[in-house]
Amino acid sequence: MEARDFELLIGQNIIDRYHSDETRPAVFELLGREWDLLDDVWPPAYSPGGELFADLIPFTEMSSFLEMGCGTGIMSVLAALSGVERVVGLDINPAAVRNTELNAGRHGVADRVTARVSDLYSAVTPDERFDGIYWNPPFLNAPEDVVDSSIWHETMFDPAYAKLRRFFHDALGLLTPEGRVYLWFGEALGNPTLVRDLADDIGYELRVLKRIELTEIPEALADAFPGDLVAGADDPDAEWHLHLLELTPLRSR
Ligand SMILES: C[S@@+](CC[C@H](N)C(=O)[O-])C[C@H]1O[C@@H](n2cnc3c(N)ncnc32)[C@H](O)[C@@H]1O
Repeated sequence: MEARDFELLIGQNIIDRYHSDETRPAVFELLGREWDLLDDVWPPAYSPGGELFADLIPFTEMSSFLEMGCGTGIMSVLAALSGVERVVGLDINPAAVRNTELNAGRHGVADRVTARVSDLYSAVTPDERFDGIYWNPPFLNAPEDVVDSSIWHETMFDPAYAKLRRFFHDALGLLTPEGRVYLWFGEALGNPTLVRDLADDIGYELRVLKRIELTEIPEALADAFPGDLVAGADDPDAEWHLHLLELTPLRSR
């Protein structure tokens, strides 16, 4: 099977699992807090996320922060709770925008967090700049001709990583002089140089803040993975790993 067809299969399995999950709670616990979860919003419990390592992001040095694809808005809320004065959460999914507003209200930071419906940076106003920009993006590079614009395809798939490339490229014009990009990413089927290649190409220095080697597929995702991928876990190219990355623009500062 072609790698991209494989990624499509994994994504479709996760989507099917989501729709048949009758135990998905409306409120879930993470990091010692409770969070609202609306229908059709990516549930962080399905996958270990960058918010688990939010303390590695230097929020205390930031006065502005943008969370791309904010989903439930956990990272936006954590940034605001760490003292960031102006937090903007963006998502192409209107339910995620409502969900981020709910969680900002639940944790008392609604005055610092604004959420907007946005296709990548389309809702950023021309005068806005950010000290930090973060995304936990769609990881899977499925073939273009089978990916549509439904919320779940937008959440899971990024054909040819066109979104990720635009996310990095357009961030260069939206960062303050000391600003940095943060990315939570997993090379699901083994493309270990993808982000490094994009960073070199677009003009960032890349630093790994956290790398998690997983010899096993995370339990929450186990149903999604075809048996032959699991069997191939010894192959370094097929190894699942996740990392939190910091990207600093190489432009003269
Ligand atoms: C893997 S989910 C992560 C959600 C959340 N940040 C988290 O970590 O739980 C990816 C998110 O990116 C959003 N997304 C996908 N394509 C987007 C785009 N073009 N513009 C803005 N958001 C997008 C999805 O709607 C989804 O909420």
